[in-house]
Amino acid sequence: MKTRFIFHILLMTAVVFLASCVKEGPAGVAGADGKDGVDGVDGSDGTVTCLACHSGTTILAAQFEYASSVHKAGVNVAYAGGRASCAECHSSEGFIEYQTNGSVDSDISMPSAINCETCHVLHTTFTYTDFMLRADDPVALKINGNALDLGDASNLCVNCHQARTAEPNTAAPGETFRITSTHYGPHHGPQANILAGIGFAEIAGPLDYPTQGTSKHLEQASCTVCHMGDYTAKQGGHTWSPSLASCNACHETASFDYGGVQFDTEEKLIVLRDLLIDKGVVAGDDVDGYHPVTGTYTMVLAQAYYNWVGIEEDRSLGVHNPQYVNALLTNTIEAVKAVK
Ligand code: HEC
Ligand code: HEC
Ligand code: HEC
Ligand code: HEC
Ligand code: HEC
Ligand code: HEC
Repeated sequence: MKTRFIFHILLMTAVVFLASCVKEGPAGVAGADGKDGVDGVDGSDGTVTCLACHSGTTILAAQFEYASSVHKAGVNVAYAGGRASCAECHSSEGFIEYQTNGSVDSDISMPSAINCETCHVLHTTFTYTDFMLRADDPVALKINGNALDLGDASNLCVNCHQARTAEPNTAAPGETFRITSTHYGPHHGPQANILAGIGFAEIAGPLDYPTQGTSKHLEQASCTVCHMGDYTAKQGGHTWSPSLASCNACHETASFDYGGVQFDTEEKLIVLRDLLIDKGVVAGDDVDGYHPVTGTYTMVLAQAYYNWVGIEEDRSLGVHNPQYVNALLTNTIEAVKAVK
């Protein structure tokens, strides 16, 4: 219904505007007619600009790709998309309000999944440039307020795919740290932090941490380069699945496990998790999942948990920043082993 209404308004404004206005006195009194108004200016032909997008297969192609994406599935929209504190990342309405006003004022009663209009401004100038992104400026990171600039459309992604909580010794420096919730951690999508090498607990150990900003995937690739390359083999484009074709522009590899990095990362994640179970910081199993045990811990154990869960939930298994992740896991494992 709303859609039809918009269409009618748009069609009406598109009609060539040539009428002149005539002033009349109130009914019954029949005063003298007023002077004729000035002729209006011809409107532009509305349908032409609509067709810049609403013709051909541009929209359809993006819709087909988007249809298979997790953004469209919006699996957590019902759970988190309506809450004012979560909506900026978990619903279309929330993201648009946050990007427009800088905050989400109140809970959203009928939140919807991320869609074309969430990311593209659409129906603003009614030309093709309305595909411009709603937000692609550098993003002030939630953990420290510093701006991160990925240098392209990927800044859009950083708004949502970043850590929400700083590592323990930054959040509350001290000898010990209290984990107060079984949901404790950086939050599920810290991909931008891993890619940029910012914000995890850089515990000292056998490996040096790479200098911030020097990761090859930060310098040369980006979220959109790997996740939104040309759509091929059901990957890339608006599916947001990373595409092998995009890797092959730089590496010869038949899988994402280039150089065995994903395999190695997965092994180290298991070693670290089992050490944390031994220390009583983590509980759970493969069926029900793993969670932290609430309690007060030596700082390094709380940091180790943060690193473990954050790298786990980044879910690229090291690909986003191979050197940084390897240094974090190697040093964290050594540090946890040393805790008496
Ligand atoms: C920048 C490209 C662009 C331009 C220009 C544009 N639209 Fe759209 N329009 C879109 C996209 C993208 C959607 C959303 C499709 C979706 O949600 O899958 C949309 C959705 C719509 C809808 C909702 C129904 C539907 O197809 O989903 C209407 C109605 C509409 N547009 C009318 C217009 C009219 C009328 C004009 C010209 C005055 C216009 N649009 C100009 C891109 C555009
Ligand atoms: C800064 C953005 C941001 C905010 C704010 C945010 N989330 Fe998320 N959340 C994400 C992203 C991004 C993902 C998905 C990450 C991925 O798929 O790798 C996610 C995933 C989730 C998941 C799915 C976890 C899983 O294992 O599948 C849940 C549940 C969730 N968020 C709940 C919440 C709740 C509840 C709030 C508010 C208290 C909240 N989120 C606030 C960005 C955010
Ligand atoms: C999660 C955010 C997001 C959503 C949702 C999204 N897009 Fe995009 N879209 C992007 C980004 C980012 C780019 C730029 C990619 C790049 O630079 O490589 C883009 C590029 C495009 C382009 C190319 C624009 C150009 O400059 O030529 C079109 C067309 C497009 N999107 C249409 C759509 C349509 C239609 C939908 C809904 C079915 C949609 N998008 C949903 C993020 C999104
Ligand atoms: C408005 C916030 C937001 C923006 C902007 C956004 N995402 Fe997401 N993204 C999410 C959330 C939330 C999820 C998980 C869906 C859920 O839990 O409901 C997700 C899921 C994903 C997934 C799928 C994860 C899986 O479970 O398989 C990928 C890949 C992804 N996003 C990449 C990107 C990229 C690349 C960009 C930038 C072009 C981007 N996203 C922009 C919020 C966002
Ligand atoms: C060098 C290429 C590359 C870059 C750059 C990159 N990604 Fe990834 N990303 C991957 C690969 C490969 C995976 C793991 C896919 C797999 O193993 O199935 C992945 C996994 C993910 C996932 C989890 C998807 C899933 O299916 O579980 C999300 C979400 C994601 N990336 C978002 C981002 C965001 C946001 C950025 C930018 C901050 C980014 N990625 C930058 C290649 C990249
Ligand atoms: C724009 C170029 C570029 C793209 C695209 C790119 N990479 Fe890389 N990647 C590099 C560079 C440069 C290095 C560092 C030199 C090297 O190890 O080859 C690197 C290193 C790596 C490493 C570390 C290798 C090791 O043994 O330490 C992995 C793993 C990796 N890339 C995986 C991927 C995957 C998977 C994709 C696609 C999803 C991808 N890359 C896309 C440029 C790229």
